[in-house]
Amino acid sequence: MSNTLTTSSGNPVDNNQTSQTAGQRGPILIQDFHLIDKLSHFDRERIPERVVHAKGAGAHGYFEVTHDISHLSKAKFLNQVGKKTPLFARFSTVGGEKGSADTARDPRGFAVKFYTEEGNWDMVGNNTPVFFIRDPSKFPDFIHTQKRNPQTNLKDADAFWDFLSLVPESIHQVTILFSNRGTPHGYRHMNGYSSHTLSLINKDNQINYVKFHFKTNQGIKNLKAADADRLAGENPDFATEDLFNAIQRGDHPEWNVYVQVMPQHDAENYRWDPFDVTKVWPHRDYPLQSVGRMVLNRNPDNYFAETEQVAFSPSHMVPGIDVSPDRMLQGRLFSYPDTHRHRLGVNYHQIPINRPLSGVRNYQRDGFMSVNGNQGSGPNYEPNSQNGPQQTNQYGTTYVSQPLHGETGRFPYKLTDDDFAQAGNLYRMLSDEEKTDLINNIAGHIKNAKKEIRDRQIAHFKRAHPEYGQRVQDAVKKLVG
Ligand code: NDP
Ligand code: HEM
Repeated sequence: MSNTLTTSSGNPVDNNQTSQTAGQRGPILIQDFHLIDKLSHFDRERIPERVVHAKGAGAHGYFEVTHDISHLSKAKFLNQVGKKTPLFARFSTVGGEKGSADTARDPRGFAVKFYTEEGNWDMVGNNTPVFFIRDPSKFPDFIHTQKRNPQTNLKDADAFWDFLSLVPESIHQVTILFSNRGTPHGYRHMNGYSSHTLSLINKDNQINYVKFHFKTNQGIKNLKAADADRLAGENPDFATEDLFNAIQRGDHPEWNVYVQVMPQHDAENYRWDPFDVTKVWPHRDYPLQSVGRMVLNRNPDNYFAETEQVAFSPSHMVPGIDVSPDRMLQGRLFSYPDTHRHRLGVNYHQIPINRPLSGVRNYQRDGFMSVNGNQGSGPNYEPNSQNGPQQTNQYGTTYVSQPLHGETGRFPYKLTDDDFAQAGNLYRMLSDEEKTDLINNIAGHIKNAKKEIRDRQIAHFKRAHPEYGQRVQDAVKKLVG
């Protein structure tokens, strides 16, 4: 192909340095199509950033099955040891804008798109096994408190702690966030979790509930708060650079992938509600079982085309991996494709990074930016007698029935001591040094909130573990008197 510079309509450009003018000192001519073409495209370069997880870095790689779990899932990409499936992963911070610092204290997004032979499966998780809230109706409010004050446009410690202290089921995730895992050393040294409970469906359409765990083979490595703060100024793109450079020099990061599996009949009587995303399943109850490994071995050629335009959704499922009654998951099933239509347009799935390798055959047509031939001359209605694509007629292709009892209604979770127990367990598990870091990290942040808000939150820390709360209280007192 020729290397001649062209306009967006492919016409050769004679000059890219000097605009056409009326005479040597006269105004610019509107007939200079190349200039108008260039400026008007530039004017439209920015698309809406993700409303959360705006700052991120991505890479290509593959998933390889190392252990057979075909008795648990009929997903074809899992059905043979040694089978490899291409994937694209994107890691991110949550609350900051697209130009914000990679080392901010925040959960890290851990999203993986598996391009399987049965369409895309997106595992859209975080580097933490739990979340702050357990009902999707709270999500926009929660995120508002992590963003900027509507008047000052500043981060707002009052809003941050006001919300969390009034939603105390957040205590477990708050404890992880303020431990040193809240400031991981880049993206290669952290684990990923589905956090949610999903369902695995086998060939007999039996359900087992499942949580996915991606454990880093690079080893867990975190930044101390002082180093994270320093890097936020010196190298705000620390994690992005670390991932890109590692892959570029052939040091390909890897994660071992495990599942925790809960038989369906356990779900009714298990100590914790298995669909409450503020809780983990202790490993002694449901041990990790090996499934495979994820390797990242290729950087994107173009950040915008791939990392910015990639669109993950927990609702992108394959036969053999399905939803669960987890309320947060249910809210997310709607929210992601909805935001993709806003951020990227109704045909977002036609963008190459989002395109399933196995193809798309359906009766959806037209809309902005239909760029893949719009399914040609095939019929655009169903049923038809023109040999159009047909449903599988197999139960279990897109869903299996989940057990249900009772009536519809609004059933709030009742707050109990159990909502504090796992945060307490985590505190007990930390080394002395990690405990001290946790206390100082919390005190350094909560000191900026009003006293009444601080006191309410400190009572929650005490309920998780008396020593934990007392130490936060003492550390805050030292800072604010
Ligand atoms: P286990 O001792 O069997 O497991 C502890 C888990 O905690 C391991 O997965 C470990 O991950 C992780 N962990 C270690 N240090 C930290 C830390 N500073 N911050 C967050 N996670 C850490 O205990 P349980 O399964 O009974 O869980 C005890 C507590 O551990 C839970 O309340 C929860 O807070 C936390 N946890 C539990 C997980 C689970 O799925 N059960 C997953 C992650 C955390 P690693 O081996 O990678 O270091
Ligand atoms: C991104 C909504 C909870 C992980 C997003 C986006 C939205 C959103 C709108 C932007 C997506 C885009 O523009 O492409 C919600 C809602 C939630 C919720 C409504 C609760 C009801 C969670 C939870 C997790 C999570 C619990 C993890 C377990 C992610 C990740 C991304 C993301 C990793 C970034 C994906 C990427 O890299 O493109 N979320 N979210 N979210 N969310 Fe959530």
